[in-house]
Amino acid sequence: MPAQPFAFRLDATDGRARTGAISTPRGQIRTPAFMPVGTAATVKAMLPESVRATGADILLGNTYHLMLRPTAERIDRLGGLHRFMNWDRPILTDSGGFQVMSLGALRKLDADGVTFKSHIDGSKHRLTPERSMEIQRLLGSDIVMCFDECPALPADRDRIAASMRLSMDWAARSRDAFGDRPGHALFGIQQGGLEEDLRAESAERLRSIGFEGYAVGGLAVGEGQEAMFDVLDYAPEQLPADKPRYLMGVGKPDDIVGAVKRGIDMMDCVLPSRSGRTGQAFTRRGVINIRNARHVDDPRPLDEECGCPACRGYSRAYLHHVSRSKEIIGSMLMTWHNLQYYQDLMADMRAAIAEERFEVWERDFHALRAAGDV
Ligand code: GUN
Ligand code: ZN
Repeated sequence: MPAQPFAFRLDATDGRARTGAISTPRGQIRTPAFMPVGTAATVKAMLPESVRATGADILLGNTYHLMLRPTAERIDRLGGLHRFMNWDRPILTDSGGFQVMSLGALRKLDADGVTFKSHIDGSKHRLTPERSMEIQRLLGSDIVMCFDECPALPADRDRIAASMRLSMDWAARSRDAFGDRPGHALFGIQQGGLEEDLRAESAERLRSIGFEGYAVGGLAVGEGQEAMFDVLDYAPEQLPADKPRYLMGVGKPDDIVGAVKRGIDMMDCVLPSRSGRTGQAFTRRGVINIRNARHVDDPRPLDEECGCPACRGYSRAYLHHVSRSKEIIGSMLMTWHNLQYYQDLMADMRAAIAEERFEVWERDFHALRAAGDV
């Protein structure tokens, strides 16, 4: 028996925003939670203990990338993904469907699954709901995602409906293949594009199958923030209130704040880590491109209020220099800062919700950024 089964506890709500915690045998996940992306068994440029030091409770890994290299079977033989990458806290793995879809011409979809060519060496591979569940089990993932399919937007309604129904058939097959694994969770993924009735049909199918958590998928695929928020005005409430709700692949800081306001509990995005490596920093006063010439002599830290090593030990001038020179420490410091900013943002929102002052907090969040004094 696991020390503690998988469970979700809601501690407080403020409007539609919620705060609580997911408990797992590998530790607690405070919600709303931001999950740094560790696609290839690493959050690029960060040691796992540094990721933890920013306040992250859980990481995201990817079936697609790990199955190709170094393979799920090899990771299993080496003791699982946690041991392999030296992160002993919870890991959520995406199922591979979404990543395969972005391969475009390199893939072929049928009712049973997807055949695709590796972006690394062109070798042929196949993913089905059953194989995705097997890979995520071999990895030792704590939160397993259903195998799904997601059309790029804009797409016509018939295509969105057919794709959603295929994903729901795959959700039922994912549930069957996952089996009974105490301490591990399987999350369903809602699809349906920007169509409220298709989102409702998808939610109904998922609820009747039954999952430990529910994701809102198929967003942040080119529809824009306004259209995404329109969907988030109804989608979370189509899903069970007593289970975690996860918005996949989102987003910028103001996307995250808007999603939490609308009842989302978990999110992931490559943005803080990826953009750190190209010189973009998120701060309380807005976005900075540290490679810009105006920072060359600036002795100030990136963000006066940030406690991360990049802000405590280094000037904008130094970060400008190492980022422009493509020094490895530039990627390290900028990634650390961005992940710290995202985790501080989540901690601030959790506190504001618990103290029922989310609306005031949100106004201040936007006001400081709008001032443009960065
Ligand atoms: N990541 C971002 N969006 C999605 C989605 O719709 N499905 C999956 N599996 N992963 C995602
Ligand atoms: Zn910082």
